[in-house]
Amino acid sequence: MGKHETIQPGDARCPGPSTRDIILDDPTPTPPAITDERYEFLGDSDVSYAAYLDPAYHKAEVEKMWNRTWQMACREEHIPDAGDTFVYDVADHSILIARQRDMSLKAFINSCPHRGMQLLANGARENVKTFVCPFHGFSFKPSGELMKIPCQWDFPHVDKAQYGLDVVHVESWGGFIFINMDENPEPLLDYLEVLPEHFKAWPTEERHLTLHIEKILPANWKLAMEAFLEAYHVLATHPEGLPTAGDANAQYDVFGENVSRFVHTIGFPSPHLKGKRSEAAILKALGGDDVGLTLEEGQTAREVWAQHLKDTLGQQMGMDLSGKSISEMMDSIEYYCFPNFFVFPGVSLPMVYRFRPNGDDVDSCIFDLMLLSLTPEGDTAPTAPDPIKVGLDKKFVDVPELNPWLAYIYDQDVDNLLQQTRGIKASRKKGQTLGNYQEVRIRRMRMTLDNYLKSDS
Ligand code: FES
Ligand SMILES: [Fe+2]
Repeated sequence: MGKHETIQPGDARCPGPSTRDIILDDPTPTPPAITDERYEFLGDSDVSYAAYLDPAYHKAEVEKMWNRTWQMACREEHIPDAGDTFVYDVADHSILIARQRDMSLKAFINSCPHRGMQLLANGARENVKTFVCPFHGFSFKPSGELMKIPCQWDFPHVDKAQYGLDVVHVESWGGFIFINMDENPEPLLDYLEVLPEHFKAWPTEERHLTLHIEKILPANWKLAMEAFLEAYHVLATHPEGLPTAGDANAQYDVFGENVSRFVHTIGFPSPHLKGKRSEAAILKALGGDDVGLTLEEGQTAREVWAQHLKDTLGQQMGMDLSGKSISEMMDSIEYYCFPNFFVFPGVSLPMVYRFRPNGDDVDSCIFDLMLLSLTPEGDTAPTAPDPIKVGLDKKFVDVPELNPWLAYIYDQDVDNLLQQTRGIKASRKKGQTLGNYQEVRIRRMRMTLDNYLKSDS
């Protein structure tokens, strides 16, 4: 760029090596999707706080957005057998998903057409031959058709053929089951934008759920989610990560209205740290000394640590990970799909997140943290475990099943939320001011949400 050309909003980037530079320098080839940059300046006006606080805004979200968008409800391995059912709840909505005899899926509004009773309780997961309403005993086939009304003589006005459960759209992608309450939704694969194409390299249907933590967080679902859409906060919130984490030079991509991504490298020091660090120092910061790793002439810490992960994780999983790139082995690669679904294609950081409103409480939400593991070839995915429920009063470090290092980081994120909510309530300013590049995914998410709320139906 010439000396007199003005830099446009959104053009500026952190000085020093970019995520792309670091990954392209790796000695192993990386799937091209990872270094495919897609950024576009989306504006720089403040983004309103009312969306996090106002019960009327929440009501509009429930009616106009949650009611009409694709949402990840569960994994295929939650309901592997005919007759398996799963109840997915979001705000006031409750949806029943049922595996049919022919192994296809059907989904219904979880409400009895007689007097509204939930057929199965919130969060239930059962194997049923028929749905029998617990209140008066109306029964329904797994396909939703009415089977039997006790005291049929009293309901001459009910046309049995027309009296089934209310059907909800259900489709699968990558081992995830999605529902949509809209009467005529766009096909899921279109809605998912680049995900089906990019994840050809990372087939999540060949993974299975190994750990699921359902934690209540003290913030609106959007506010909590936004803390996971950027790595800008690493400097102040997770400072111990700086020797090994790419934060200010993380890559942010917006692929469309629904899907965005960040890629932040691990094993390369933060641009905030002054002075060059030796590869040996970086390897030490990654934990290399603890497991006796050393650098050969010309090797990078990323290379050595990724090989260590390939060996140890490959052995644990009983898989050959030699074909994986360094980036896939160790970087934090996070895809987000509106409204609340996050999926990481990486091997050592294989997370899935979901953020849901906690009923009608605008000040809290439900955070589902799920970990997926690669399923060895030829194996059938084991049935998914039930969630470990963690209340507001407990921390992630209180969950022994979770890696303590990850738990510590999640707790740092959660610790900000109450204080941020209180600050927003106290603010004279009406909205948050976002960075043009590093916080663009937050802006994109809020723009997409606004589009739903602006629509008529
Ligand atoms: S409410 Fe379901 S049978 Fe009465
Ligand atoms: Fe964080």
